[in-house]
Amino acid sequence: MRRPLDMQPRLPPGSLGWTYIGETLQLYSQNPKSFFNLRLKRYGEVFKTHLLGCPCVILATAEAVRFVLVTHADLFKPTYPKSKERMIGPWALFFHHGDYHLRLRKIIQSLLSPDLLRAILPEIESIVRSMLHAWDGHVETTYLAMKRLSFDVGICMIFGRQLDDHHKKELKKNYIILDKGYNSFAVNFPGTPYRRSILARKQLSYILNKIMEERRQRTESRSDFLGCLMDYKDENGCNLTDEQIADNVIGVLFAAQDTTASALTWILKFLHDYPSVLEHVKAEQMKIYHANECGKKPLTWTQTRDMNVTNRVILESLRMATIISFTFREAIADVEYKGYLIPKGWKVMPLFRNMHHNSEFFQDPEKFDPSRFKVAPRPNTYLSFGNGVHACPGNELAKIEILVLIYQLVTNYKWEVVKSSDEVEHSPFPVPKHGLPAKIWRV
Ligand code: HEM
Repeated sequence: MRRPLDMQPRLPPGSLGWTYIGETLQLYSQNPKSFFNLRLKRYGEVFKTHLLGCPCVILATAEAVRFVLVTHADLFKPTYPKSKERMIGPWALFFHHGDYHLRLRKIIQSLLSPDLLRAILPEIESIVRSMLHAWDGHVETTYLAMKRLSFDVGICMIFGRQLDDHHKKELKKNYIILDKGYNSFAVNFPGTPYRRSILARKQLSYILNKIMEERRQRTESRSDFLGCLMDYKDENGCNLTDEQIADNVIGVLFAAQDTTASALTWILKFLHDYPSVLEHVKAEQMKIYHANECGKKPLTWTQTRDMNVTNRVILESLRMATIISFTFREAIADVEYKGYLIPKGWKVMPLFRNMHHNSEFFQDPEKFDPSRFKVAPRPNTYLSFGNGVHACPGNELAKIEILVLIYQLVTNYKWEVVKSSDEVEHSPFPVPKHGLPAKIWRV
């Protein structure tokens, strides 16, 4: 039976702006947080707009975020420009929705579980030590050093300890080209960053196929990320194809690198800017350092589980910086939410950053205060790693990497930020201005 007209769901309040360009110019002419905050005040916490050629519904309440990402996630699929799919590879986990996504996610989640990460803790510690050693005594752009670190950790997690040096160099060289072109205009002419990226992506597939071929020839079965993807069989005994494996290796490297590097850079900035917080962190880490015979013994998994002060600093840094400011989904059918219609094909954007800086959820939100995490935040308000079926499966790896870096840094080094500033750049994730140039030296 049809509902009377006055009870039909209606579009949320808000403006679709000008024909085609919508409110895109307004978004780009100001700080995105202010653009959204202004409209949240004007229309309430669900409103419509039109951005980058698409009608969108914007959400910033715990209830609405839960609806889209968790309870009704089957009605909203991830959505990315085709050019990005082409660069990463169309079989990568985060482009999918439904059965393939669920099946693959289960595998990837199990490969990033604490049990498996425990095995590579000594490797992570050794990668962190050599990165700091190479930085010792001079000024470096923190963000670039952290990008190298997260790339090396990603490679170690995916290929294990025995990746041939030649393959590693080639992977790195081509990955850097891919990364440079990822956010360029999708103009596929010779010489453009986009074209160079596409060619580098082809080369990456070639190298990955070669590595897989070599492993098969040696009839090796390995327990690293690549080995497990190669050995995987579904309930009908079917393997993943080499293309699916390659797209997911590149996809995971990609999802891991800039996010973790940006998080690490912010944490160094906050520890530098808040000396009393640094003192607390240092006191916690020095206890472990002394228990480990002044760092002679390696860090144990149990010790990393027991770094409560440091852990709260990580949570608060991720809240303050909100590495992923918002996400996009697309309604796969007409959806009704609280009397509002979200038409099929419209984009839906949960605003993680605005929620993290909303005083209703986080008291005095502009204050850097790790102690607020002595009490767990309200459900669906802390979204640094997202929520629901697409929530970050790499959060444990990111956290362990950050803990090891903090341990090694505060127990062995001092550091100084060059021309400290509160300005933020987007690359595309937020990073402190100029990537936070800093000098470190061994104490
Ligand atoms: C501090 C570092 C990181 C942050 C802040 C972060 C944040 C996020 C967020 C917010 C999402 C959900 C996006 C959405 O709902 O659309 C996500 C998804 C994802 N992340 Fe992370 N991430 C981090 C590190 C990592 C690492 C280290 C890995 C892998 C080793 C990783 C792999 C992924 C993957 C594969 C997805 C897609 C999951 C899916 O679609 O099912 N991330 N991440």
